[in-house]
Amino acid sequence: MSEAPTLEQLDALEREALAALQQVENSEALHAWRARYFGAKRTEGALEQLMKRIGSLPPEQRPAFGRRANAVKQTLIAAYEQREAHVKTAEMQAALQANALDVTLPGRPIAVGRLHPSTLTLRRIIQIFTRMGFEVYRSPEVETDEMNFTLLNMPPDHPARDMWDTFYTTTPGVILRTHTSPGQIRVMRERSKNGPQPLRVILPGMVYRYEQVTARSESQFNQVEGLVIGRRITMADLKGVFVEFARQMFGSAGQIRFRASYFPFTEPSVEVDVYLGTETERARMLTKGTGWLEIAGAGMVHPTVLRNGGYDPEEWSGFAFGMGPERQAMRLYGINDIRYFWQNDLRFLEQF
Ligand code: DAH
Repeated sequence: MSEAPTLEQLDALEREALAALQQVENSEALHAWRARYFGAKRTEGALEQLMKRIGSLPPEQRPAFGRRANAVKQTLIAAYEQREAHVKTAEMQAALQANALDVTLPGRPIAVGRLHPSTLTLRRIIQIFTRMGFEVYRSPEVETDEMNFTLLNMPPDHPARDMWDTFYTTTPGVILRTHTSPGQIRVMRERSKNGPQPLRVILPGMVYRYEQVTARSESQFNQVEGLVIGRRITMADLKGVFVEFARQMFGSAGQIRFRASYFPFTEPSVEVDVYLGTETERARMLTKGTGWLEIAGAGMVHPTVLRNGGYDPEEWSGFAFGMGPERQAMRLYGINDIRYFWQNDLRFLEQF
């Protein structure tokens, strides 16, 4: 028979347990405390051990002991739950602090892509012409010799073919286009029989030349071809379009100069300069100090070319032009070496 438990033992247990609980600072200690006073899987708790001995008390003392034991149990459970909440909060706070995320740090910058200077310039050119009512056409970069030369009034042995050094393919008669002018034939053939007249189109795109690559010449670059065909189109219309283009593109006051030139597909043929003057630093830079900026080859569409496109030259006339966006971009942005355009050097590209 074990020794009878006393109420003093219960009081002492309560005091001891509450004091021990005040020392508990983490989950581990909390579990140990709980095992100690309430028991765990295989061990009895201190309280249970005392209560088990209730049988050794005289029967009349048992109810008082039992009530006190229950009161101690309730007190300890309540105290435990309070401490548990405190420990959990403290632990969470510590964890948060350890993996702290400083929301006041500046964000990592996202690398923003940029448009290529050729694209920027092409878009400006396209915008200006579409505002004037031009449609935008595309035509193939791999062309037939016939489209690129013959139908543009340069039959196979025509000496003017020497104006363009050509990339040939292994397929006879198939080349990389040397200029965007073959697009004229394609558009005319599509539109001469049906479609609204007058015809006003531009054809932007890449062209290829079998040339030594230097600071001034590349083997690939963009061109913007233009073509207008109507019933009474004259040189004056060509001039008007370029005056307006130069005004919007370069802010020129509107003086235009035609220098006589030669292209097999136009008659007469000209090269077009715009007058930017020499007053501003920018104008001097754009014109290399001369005041004049060459912007295009152009002319009245040759009757043979009109006929090849399906237009009767007795009834229709038109003008055409070809300009180089990279050359304009070089002038606009002060780029002194054309090779930068296709080298994909980020130090260059990131400047736009
Ligand atoms: N195709 C010519 C070239 O690449 C440029 C050109 C000149 C186009 C006169 C034209 C034009 O349409 O009329 O050098």
